[in-house]
Amino acid sequence: MIDGIDRVLLSEEHLSETVSRLGKKISLEYKDKNLLMISVLKGSVVFMSDLMRKISIPCTIDFMEVSSYTGTESSGEVRILKDLDIPIMGYDVLVVEDILDSGKTLSYILEMLKSRNPKSIKLCALLDKPEARRSNICADYVGEKILNEFVVGYGLDCNEKYRNLPFVGVLSSKVGSSPN
Ligand code: IMP
Ligand code: MG
Repeated sequence: MIDGIDRVLLSEEHLSETVSRLGKKISLEYKDKNLLMISVLKGSVVFMSDLMRKISIPCTIDFMEVSSYTGTESSGEVRILKDLDIPIMGYDVLVVEDILDSGKTLSYILEMLKSRNPKSIKLCALLDKPEARRSNICADYVGEKILNEFVVGYGLDCNEKYRNLPFVGVLSSKVGSSPN
């Protein structure tokens, strides 16, 4: 096993099936819509690039980056590090996130995007930790519900490490609490 990882939670094959299922569902439900997929950097970058290739209808993509986390603890503060390149008015926006945890980051992002008057706005999260929720938010499309453990890989990091792992793994508790 890779240093710092306790066990594989979702294998490459499992993730591929999950993403295909989501892609099919989204393609069907957005068939007559004006789909704009917004990837929240950096955690959703792997998910986004796999998911968009499973979308069989025309779509536009854009990226934004916010920061709300240091290590494994939520500060509750959200800063916009990179805003969208295009106005979202007239688009059916689908926000693509790696994980819905406390929900604080996504609540903030959704409110901010709603104020820009998109035609509609929905949320797609690869992973959902319902037990960790601290705000009134749920995803319209969820890949997998998981327990309240800190996970890394497939885009998810711990202090910018492990994003390149092709699977989602549970971080060893020894690594989880250290600053580096
Ligand atoms: P929330 O505001 O608590 O929902 O947190 C959202 C962000 O925290 C996610 O987009 C992730 O970047 C990060 N995060 C939350 N849980 C985990 C985890 O288990 N592993 C890695 N990053 C996480
Ligand atoms: Mg994220």
